Amino acid sequence: MYSEKVMDHFEHPRNVGEIENASGVGTVGNAKCGDIMRIFLDISDDGIIRDVKFKTFGCGAAVATSSMATELVKGKTVQEAMQVTNRAVMEALDGLPPVKVHCSLLAEEAIHAALWDYAQKKGIVIEGLEKPKSDIHEGEEQEEEEY
Ligand code: FES
Repeated sequence: MYSEKVMDHFEHPRNVGEIENASGVGTVGNAKCGDIMRIFLDISDDGIIRDVKFKTFGCGAAVATSSMATELVKGKTVQEAMQVTNRAVMEALDGLPPVKVHCSLLAEEAIHAALWDYAQKKGIVIEGLEKPKSDIHEGEEQEEEEY
């Protein structure tokens, strides 16, 4: 039921780990299953994602999609990374079973949360990027205040 690519990225996930003093870190949780994903981005001064690492405390599909998502954003500009949607990640993995589609959302959300963190730190606006809803670092009160 899983494609060969999903199995490959699950068994040999790329870019697992952490980046110290990362340019941006995003942590998101999946409300459906409680799984958690964290993405670290190292972004150069000219906005290129030089390195990316992830940690996923979640199911196999979440691990595979994190792995593929990190491969897709590596070396890209911040704007290009915005194009890495969960659909793009799933296509790159040759699909996921329908019940596992929600797992792929974590990767997109974690990348967006890490980009948001980067933008906040740099004081810049990334076009099309919205404040992450499920960043578990965010307190509820804070979310209310900012809207
Ligand atoms: Fe939780 Fe897949 S079941 S992310």
